[in-house]
Amino acid sequence: MPTAKGERVDSVSDWATRYYVLLYEVVSVSPSKLRKLAQVSEVFTPGTPISRYSIFAGRMDQIMEIVNATSNRGQHVVMYGERGVGKTSLANVLTEIFDAMGRTVLKYARINCNSGDDFSSIWRNVGREIDIEFGADPYANLTPEDIRFGLSQQSRSLIVLDELDRFEDDDSLTLLADTIKSLSDHSIPATVVLVGVADSIEQLLGDHASIERNIVQVPMPRMREDELTEIVDNALQTLGMSISDRVKARIPSLSEGLPHYTHLLGLHAFQRAIQDDRSEVNGADVDAAIRIAVEKAQHSIRSAYQRATRSPHKDNLFAQVLLACALAPKDELGYFAAGAVRIPMSQIMGRPYEIPAFARHLDQFTKEDRGYILSRRGPERMRFYRFENPMLQPFVILSGLSKGYIREEQIGGGPASRGAPDGPPQPDSLPHSSPLE
Ligand SMILES: Nc1ncnc2c1ncn2[C@@H]1O[C@H](COP(=O)(O)OP(=O)(O)OP(=O)(O)O)[C@@H](O)[C@H]1O
Ligand SMILES: [Mg+2]
Repeated sequence: MPTAKGERVDSVSDWATRYYVLLYEVVSVSPSKLRKLAQVSEVFTPGTPISRYSIFAGRMDQIMEIVNATSNRGQHVVMYGERGVGKTSLANVLTEIFDAMGRTVLKYARINCNSGDDFSSIWRNVGREIDIEFGADPYANLTPEDIRFGLSQQSRSLIVLDELDRFEDDDSLTLLADTIKSLSDHSIPATVVLVGVADSIEQLLGDHASIERNIVQVPMPRMREDELTEIVDNALQTLGMSISDRVKARIPSLSEGLPHYTHLLGLHAFQRAIQDDRSEVNGADVDAAIRIAVEKAQHSIRSAYQRATRSPHKDNLFAQVLLACALAPKDELGYFAAGAVRIPMSQIMGRPYEIPAFARHLDQFTKEDRGYILSRRGPERMRFYRFENPMLQPFVILSGLSKGYIREEQIGGGPASRGAPDGPPQPDSLPHSSPLE
């Protein structure tokens, strides 16, 4: 079946077919319906990075930055951003993008760095993927020169070192920076892409950010709503299904810029329509998808939410304050000040709420007892908060909707319409009298 990009999607993968055939035997659903259900899980993949450009959405600005920079030999890439924004997916489709531009990649490796890795172990992993034996002695530590020499024997390789934030060995980071410099200085036909969770290149590379001259920095922001809408459009076209514009807009707007949630809501909404023998996805499907997304979210997300909001007191406000935090306008790094919580908190409670009424809750959210769900920075009267795990923020909103703390109309069309604060968030005066300060 053709996709939005005019390509064909392969037949249903083996595992998915087996799963749905099993389902068929158990619940006796027609094979064509099972095939369709399986197809939906091929286009909406909340748990897996994208690996085919035909179902990759948006990210044109980032793609152009990478393509322009790497057309000069000796330029490498550092891609960084929040957890779950789509870094690995973009790295995965780079070979297809380069191929389409006539810069065919002949050797490609993407490896994940782990906390126990060092310079030699990551490059041996790369070597295994692209069939190069780096260094003369397989038992000796590798040097940047070994890597340069090994890659100079190849033409056009693309090497992605993912999850670099897990890499703990500073000496190895120094060797990696030296390697990039050496590859650049010798114009080796290889592009190295470093990927990791970080707010800045300094956070990812520490003192070694000085290799700046040889790298292009690609910050990965959360996805815009038009980019997330493209994910839904790709699915509609691939599956030959329909949805009204009004219902379609709800899925990206509830995703808070994190494509995992677009995939999760899309998966459940589209499968519900198919189970109901409809090719049109309707509002009730999206309502059901919100409930399922909350019930079936990853265990770690659900338990972090429960830990942050539990209380023996029935009338406690932890869930409402956390929801107001999730809805508060934020800066581009996800930070908000206590003052930004006032308006959503007042909306949720149906009457004006001022900072002293929830300052204690904010403080507790930054403590071990509540699982450090928020992190805090700045001195006492200039405090900013953000969700330690960004994936929690949309979950908190979906939970708030499914528990009826707030209605979708009240939260408007996603983060864009709630607006970011002008410039950096303004400091708030958290009350000195807060009992937990
Ligand atoms: N451009 C895109 N188009 C469609 N779906 C995307 C896109 N980018 C990411 N996704 C989807 O979003 C989810 C998260 O993507 P991905 O794993 O690439 O993020 P990440 O930034 O590498 O996450 P992590 O920080 O956990 O490593 C996956 O379900 C993936 O399929
Ligand atoms: Mg990743």
